[in-house]
Amino acid sequence: MCGIVGYIGKRDVAPLLLEGLQRLEYRGYDSAGVVITGKSGGLKMVKAKGRVRDLESRVPKRFAGTTGIAHTRWATHGAPSDENAHPHLDGESKVAVVHNGIVDNASELRAKLVADGVEFLSETDTEVLTHLIARSQAPTLEEKVREALRLVEGTYGIAVLHADFTDRIVVARNGSPVVLGIGEKEMFVASDVAALVSHTRQVVTLDDGEMATIKADDFRTYTTEGSRTTASPTTVEWEAESYDMGGHDTYMHKEISEQVDAVDRVLRGRIDDRFSTVHLGGLNLDAREARTIRRVKILGCGTSYHAGLIGAGLIEELARIPADAEPASEFRYRNPVVDPDTLYVAVSQSGETYDALAAVQELKRKGARVLGVVNVVGSAIARETDGGVYVHAGPEVCVVSTKCFTNTVVAFALLALHLGRIRDLSVADGKRLIAGLRKLPEQISEILQQEDEIKKLAEEYADAKSMMFIGRVRGYPVALEASLKLKEISYIHAEAYPASELKHGPLALIEPALPTVAIVPDDDLLEKNRAALEEIKARSGRILAVAHQEQEKADHTVVVPKNETELDPILMGIPLQLLAYHTALALGRDIDKPRNLAKSVTVE
Ligand code: F6R
Repeated sequence: MCGIVGYIGKRDVAPLLLEGLQRLEYRGYDSAGVVITGKSGGLKMVKAKGRVRDLESRVPKRFAGTTGIAHTRWATHGAPSDENAHPHLDGESKVAVVHNGIVDNASELRAKLVADGVEFLSETDTEVLTHLIARSQAPTLEEKVREALRLVEGTYGIAVLHADFTDRIVVARNGSPVVLGIGEKEMFVASDVAALVSHTRQVVTLDDGEMATIKADDFRTYTTEGSRTTASPTTVEWEAESYDMGGHDTYMHKEISEQVDAVDRVLRGRIDDRFSTVHLGGLNLDAREARTIRRVKILGCGTSYHAGLIGAGLIEELARIPADAEPASEFRYRNPVVDPDTLYVAVSQSGETYDALAAVQELKRKGARVLGVVNVVGSAIARETDGGVYVHAGPEVCVVSTKCFTNTVVAFALLALHLGRIRDLSVADGKRLIAGLRKLPEQISEILQQEDEIKKLAEEYADAKSMMFIGRVRGYPVALEASLKLKEISYIHAEAYPASELKHGPLALIEPALPTVAIVPDDDLLEKNRAALEEIKARSGRILAVAHQEQEKADHTVVVPKNETELDPILMGIPLQLLAYHTALALGRDIDKPRNLAKSVTVE
């Protein structure tokens, strides 16, 4: 949420910063701005409400410099506007700050500054930081920033430019990501590697409580208290091209299409045919420990929570360990009992979601063992957890998650199989499930080939004002995820219910204008699901079924290939990603950047 980018070196900085902002735009897109150190040493700034392209059109021809910072915003304090866009300058235009996060005590600090005669130009919490830095009497920029941060409560990833210290950019991290990119006599900083990889793949990720000074040919890291820290650069695995749209019209479409390869990747090198199990190198949980687990608790937000619900079902089914999933955002606020025999699993695509990270930190404080199921290697959650499984979906740029959801569920299937084989899952079941996992890429490809038919269905249902999604047991989290996907990008209201709950209330909503999408796998609940379809049909409801065979009571059925029953949820969600996509397309929505949302929710 919010993207920051900075550069110091020899190149013309404005085009580099604008390119970086384009790459980070999925983190926020209501306004953007850039500030550079001009040739004469003073700061020059341009900012604009709207997208990065709106900013670009305002950047004057003569905007030369080789050092600068920039920002693309997702509003928290203050509506999107030119004034509230970052960077924020002090009254004398000496200090510029870009910020991702929330200053919790901003109003209190603001009141004090106003009482001291400071004039504010925006409604943002960030501007407080700018004035605090500008007013500091400390002799170095690092100390000025440190002094300001000492007064601030909340989360931040910041980058600071100062007209009196033009050889450096100072950055700091607490709760919001900051990554340094190390180049040849040039240095970058960004909220995530997406903005860096086309220039350098050597990166240093700051920890919470860490700061850094970057100069053109040097960088150093230290704590907010001032003690030096050691930072060894790592190499980003993902190629620069994997961030491009690759011939698709949207990132969402590209990412849906990539699922065949992505699932292949999450399986690669992990299957052990000899013992009919899987190896998960980074799990850091030996067989003896795994046998002592009494419960599994999975925590994540949004789509990751939905993947966690399917994961909990798989763990319970295959490993026979009681398991459940809960939104991390709720868990951390209810002072949960932290049980030493419970294995906690944090799920996150970005590995930076603040609520999930805070839940992990709370659990660690209370001595729990926490694993991560994470996509971004080296992200905060990956580093805070005791071990885990990388989901290897590759970079996901579209704000709404698709391929990462699928890969996360597959990663959970691997974890469940691993735990199951250590406990009491038979060799025969191990073999059966491994064969099922191997079939997934080809079956996903078969589903993707039905895109034209799904597109037609989407166009037929796109006039609905509201839609119901139903499923039972394994199908229910699929319904939840499909309804989230539809509402996020099409803005059609959608609700998901267990099919078994229909007659306890939601049946009252059924009428021709409210279509139902029903998940109807060929499993032991098939007849029960069919009964639900009967009930809907009896009330003249329209039905679109996702099933393993044509459903007589449905108006339309999307038939998906059958796999092992336990793995069916992995495939049943995929046509519904396409349904959401084509519905949004038919309605002319901005699919990759849905209103009010942003990827990587690094604020509470
Ligand atoms: C929905 C979506 C969000 C994220 C959620 C958690 O399409 O993408 O609901 O799943 O914000 O993000 P991560 O997985 O990065 O922790």
